[in-house]
Amino acid sequence: MNRTVEMIIDGKPIELPTVVGSEGEVGVDISSLRNKTGCITLDPGYGNTGACESAITFIDGETGILRYRGYDIAELAEKSTFIETAYLLIYGNLPTRPQLVEFSDVLTENQMLHEGMRFHFENFPPSAHPMAILSAMINAASSYHPNLITKREECFPFHAARLISQVRTIAAFSYRKAQGLPTIYPKSSLKYTANFLHMMFSPHPGEDCELKPEIVKALDLIFLLHADHEQNCSTSTVRMVASSRANLFASASAGVCALWGPLHGGANQAVLEMLEEIHQDGDDGTKFLNQVKNKSTHRRLMGFGHRVYKNFDPRAVILKQQCDKVLSQLHKSDPLLDIAKKLEDVALHDDYFISRKLYPNVDFYSGIIMRAIGIPLDMFTVMFAIGRMPGWIANYKEVMADSDSRIARPRQIYTGATQRAYTPLEARS
Ligand code: CMC
Repeated sequence: MNRTVEMIIDGKPIELPTVVGSEGEVGVDISSLRNKTGCITLDPGYGNTGACESAITFIDGETGILRYRGYDIAELAEKSTFIETAYLLIYGNLPTRPQLVEFSDVLTENQMLHEGMRFHFENFPPSAHPMAILSAMINAASSYHPNLITKREECFPFHAARLISQVRTIAAFSYRKAQGLPTIYPKSSLKYTANFLHMMFSPHPGEDCELKPEIVKALDLIFLLHADHEQNCSTSTVRMVASSRANLFASASAGVCALWGPLHGGANQAVLEMLEEIHQDGDDGTKFLNQVKNKSTHRRLMGFGHRVYKNFDPRAVILKQQCDKVLSQLHKSDPLLDIAKKLEDVALHDDYFISRKLYPNVDFYSGIIMRAIGIPLDMFTVMFAIGRMPGWIANYKEVMADSDSRIARPRQIYTGATQRAYTPLEARS
């Protein structure tokens, strides 16, 4: 039987039920608290608030565990692919061979954008950040599919596949547009990640780029490692928007906006900018770390720290190894990797970082790999968005399938002025 928790408010005890997850996590169910006592709970940043029950991803931040649908991230990284993992996240199990073939076929069938969408790209200024284009175009795509709303459930598999497939096409088109390069259409014979690289880097329609298997593999791994991460800022945003019964594309577009910020997915771009700055400065990282530790500078070691991981981020461990592997496969060296390793080494032995349990997160090493494989800096967060799409879709599906789901509507503690009389303009000083 689940435990109950007793709370005493104004001397009166109230009993609250608990919910225990499959990995033993305990949540105190406070949903009756306001009705019973008039009080609400206050948790800015939601560090102690479980907003939902979810069966998709499990994280134990104390021991550095990340599992998608029960599978350890390191095992998936070694044995799976992004598309197989996307299926796993959305449908709950690894696909059988026929299921995988069918899923891949639907992705391929839906890879083309509606031709009308191409004209939208023309109206963005060349300086537009690709994340702005991505969120706008995903939302715009919803207007081409009215059955996103009218046939929400029966068409879900097609809309999910369309979104996973088209986010990649939109991303590549926005890059080509920003570079003033001709658009390269997707090629049905190519698999997901290879097809994306083809659309990004083929010199002209009709002249294909060389697709090095090690580059395709490295980017596929980056997508896979980003595919879900339970109730992070962007996924919570997707769930929040979905809770109003907004359509899948609108919810995912909101997720892109939330992801863009430098404290979330935008950190991968910010890490590279930081490493570049340290390099340009001729610093080995020591001066920069001193600035970070001096709170008056308001600087952060980007790519370090995490709300949930307080030991290590398993994705960062995999990506660090992958950095060395990719650079050696491509016979490249990168002074920024040396700086990153030095920063990590110093930070992990420095009391400022140790006492706050700050470790490298997924964004610390991913940018060095993306740079090595030729992804431009302002596309880094777009890569995160492509990778995270299956996780957003899985979470959207979970919200829609939950018959008890209510619109997400937090409360607040009001701290503004109490009631006052309106002052006419002439009487205001
Ligand atoms: N550099 C220096 N100090 C830091 C950092 C950092 N990267 N992260 C946290 N701190 C300090 C912070 O100043 C605070 O110190 P004090 O207790 O003295 O006031 C303490 O550590 C706790 O920080 P917090 O901001 O309360 O922690 P949070 O859980 O709210 O924030 C975070 C988590 C990821 C936003 C934060 O660690 C951060 O800003 N990191 C840098 C940005 C980054 O790498 N983001 C990517 C996160 S992982 C992928 C993703 O989610 O997209």
